[in-house]
Amino acid sequence: MTKSGDDAQPGQRRLFRLAVLASGSGSNLQAIIDQLHRPEVVVRDLSEDVPEIGDAVRSGEPDRVTWQPVIPGEPRMEVVLVLSDVPEAFALTRARRAGIPTRVLVPRDFASREEHDLALVSALCEAEPDLVVLAGYMRLLSPAVIRAFPYRIINLHPALLPSFPGTSAIQDALRYGVKITGVTVHFVDEGMDTGPIIAQEAVRVEEGDTEETLATRIHAVEHRLLPDTIRLFAAGRVHPPLPGSRVVTVD
Ligand code: GAR
Repeated sequence: MTKSGDDAQPGQRRLFRLAVLASGSGSNLQAIIDQLHRPEVVVRDLSEDVPEIGDAVRSGEPDRVTWQPVIPGEPRMEVVLVLSDVPEAFALTRARRAGIPTRVLVPRDFASREEHDLALVSALCEAEPDLVVLAGYMRLLSPAVIRAFPYRIINLHPALLPSFPGTSAIQDALRYGVKITGVTVHFVDEGMDTGPIIAQEAVRVEEGDTEETLATRIHAVEHRLLPDTIRLFAAGRVHPPLPGSRVVTVD
């Protein structure tokens, strides 16, 4: 029996467990925490206010609060692990503030990339995520990690893939002179930002844009598109490509 849906009590929505990997500031992790992370809260006194969980509604059960799904069929979601390769990443601070367990696996502490990624697989397996979200995680995952979570790892990228893959997509798009760039959420495969595309949204490049002004508008789209895509996943509405295809269907 897993920690996720199978052990839900009859009549209860199941729990959808998220693991988030991040290397930097973690503004996208924060969007996930604010919009999706709904740890179960047990209240001692049913008249007690629980202001930190704004959309919580009282369930019929004593001592429990529960949540209204935004999408029909959406389960309660919880970020069960935030993992980083950078000990000083602000994403870790955001996670700790929200009471989410964190792990740090620094690549230079391991003898090889394989050993690092084995530790990564083991940390992820312990957390039993339904979905692994790369939100500004700036390392390529090795095949061992991808094979451990087939079609259950997604990545956020600040450009309209397949244009401008890599770690400087916003700067690259600006330098190239494109008039439209955007945001992509895609399945992770063994390449660099090459996996099947799940969701995309365009962002216009304005006259006089700097990397900073363009990044601000791209981040605003990311902070909506990534949580929305995770919601669709949790509702079972994202379907991986059929063999021989790379077309993802979202119903
Ligand atoms: C985001 O813009 C994300 O798209 C990008 O890193 C940023 C992380 O921001 N990812 C990549 O470039 C991956 N190739 P955040 O730490 O504030 O969430």
